[in-house]
Amino acid sequence: MADTVVIRELAAAEAERRLDELGVILRDAVESGASVNFLQGFTQAEAEAFWRGQVPGIADGGRRLLVAEDGERLIGTVVLTLAPQPNQPHRADVGKMLVLASHRRRGLGRRLLDAVEALAREQGRTLLMLDTTLGSSGDMLYRRCGWTEYGIVPGHALSTLGVPTATAFFYKEV
Ligand SMILES: CC(C)(COP(=O)(O)OP(=O)(O)OC[C@H]1O[C@@H](n2cnc3c(N)ncnc32)[C@H](O)[C@@H]1OP(=O)(O)O)[C@@H](O)C(=O)NCCC(=O)NCCS
Repeated sequence: MADTVVIRELAAAEAERRLDELGVILRDAVESGASVNFLQGFTQAEAEAFWRGQVPGIADGGRRLLVAEDGERLIGTVVLTLAPQPNQPHRADVGKMLVLASHRRRGLGRRLLDAVEALAREQGRTLLMLDTTLGSSGDMLYRRCGWTEYGIVPGHALSTLGVPTATAFFYKEV
């Protein structure tokens, strides 16, 4: 199944045209209980508004959006945000690592992560950082893919149900 899936970059204009599909992926993640900044009850309109807010950064190159696409349908995302600080030209943040719940555990998360790490390297961004809920699927993925945990903050974020949860912070040199 994963063999039919292409990982590629989405430019700003296409992201804007496909806000509905991007929104479905984000809403699906929240509905599946993933702590990706939003709470239960998150709507499709709110999800599309989130992605609409990412488009200017994608257009100016500060953000790079990679997607997993199965035929005509988007089924996964990951965003690389280049650190804007003049003294951190070698650093970037990884976020919105999302795979539709119906397509998980088929290697797509790993493929998206490999692709975003390769893109970062090409851009000279050799130090990557991210954070995720301790014990979550993301936590498992990052540990499996060689990321180093550098700290845990108890009660850092609320779960989708509003319960304080610990966040694990990771880095990787690529
Ligand atoms: C995190 C996420 C992107 C992983 O995507 P995925 O396509 O299922 O990941 P993969 O199939 O490539 O998994 C690669 C490896 O990561 C680990 N892993 C991934 N999900 C896991 C889980 N739920 N439990 C245990 N290990 C897991 C496993 O080692 C897995 O290898 P294996 O299947 O051979 O055992 C997906 O679960 C997701 O979208 N979760 C909700 C959103 C989220 O929490 N994103 C992270 C926010 S920072």
